[in-house]
Amino acid sequence: MQDLSNFRKSYEKFDLNESDVTDNPLELFRDWFNEAVDHDAVDEANAMSVSTIGLDGFPKTRVVLLKRYSENGFVFYTNYESEKGRAIEANPHVCLSFFWPGMERQVIIKGTASKLASNLSDGYFESRPKLSQVSAIISPQSQVVPSREYLESKQKELTEKSGDHLERPKYWGGYIVFPQSIEFWQGRPNRLHDRIRYELNDAYDWVINRLAP
Ligand SMILES: Cc1cc2nc3c(=O)[nH]c(=O)nc-3n(C[C@H](O)[C@H](O)[C@H](O)COP(=O)(O)O)c2cc1C
Repeated sequence: MQDLSNFRKSYEKFDLNESDVTDNPLELFRDWFNEAVDHDAVDEANAMSVSTIGLDGFPKTRVVLLKRYSENGFVFYTNYESEKGRAIEANPHVCLSFFWPGMERQVIIKGTASKLASNLSDGYFESRPKLSQVSAIISPQSQVVPSREYLESKQKELTEKSGDHLERPKYWGGYIVFPQSIEFWQGRPNRLHDRIRYELNDAYDWVINRLAP
């Protein structure tokens, strides 16, 4: 048994007040994201967890990379036939979350995922290094495979036989998650943390509330 009850950290770096928050959560997200990118203690600020409700009824969370965000949503790329792709097909409600320990900050976004326009997925696929393109093509993401050697031989085969241009396979591309709620969590001393949640109402206005920690 490993007892971790003494693992305890006081969060003291920043605070989050109603008077500081912007009307639009995207602006606050952009500020926090850029601060995370610039912070020495944060590696891969764009790594985020994506939770889906699986076909087996269980939620599942895994890390992907945020590749773009705007008013229209948050974009990541993956295999549409992967476990997450199949889950999104059946239930597009997802949750994205960022934890930036160096900033003592968490952001949780609930939203609806849809496939990104194919020309945007094409553009991103073309911008990737060839070996990344090859891996995306030959990897039946989330399927059982016989061995690592099997994948390496598929990778070698396609790398050798293909020219400079590889077409994006239809089973690989982006999802864009349109946010319904965005919650900002700032760690504070003595566990009295700050939580500010933005929720879209029926008129598509953002409603801002403070939540108890
Ligand atoms: C830091 C990090 C970044 C990752 N980025 C991606 C990504 O952008 N897209 C992706 O499909 N998987 C990415 N993965 C792998 C996923 O976590 C996951 O293993 C994969 O997408 C298969 O998930 P699924 O079987 O639940 O669909 C990343 C993993 C880590 C740890």
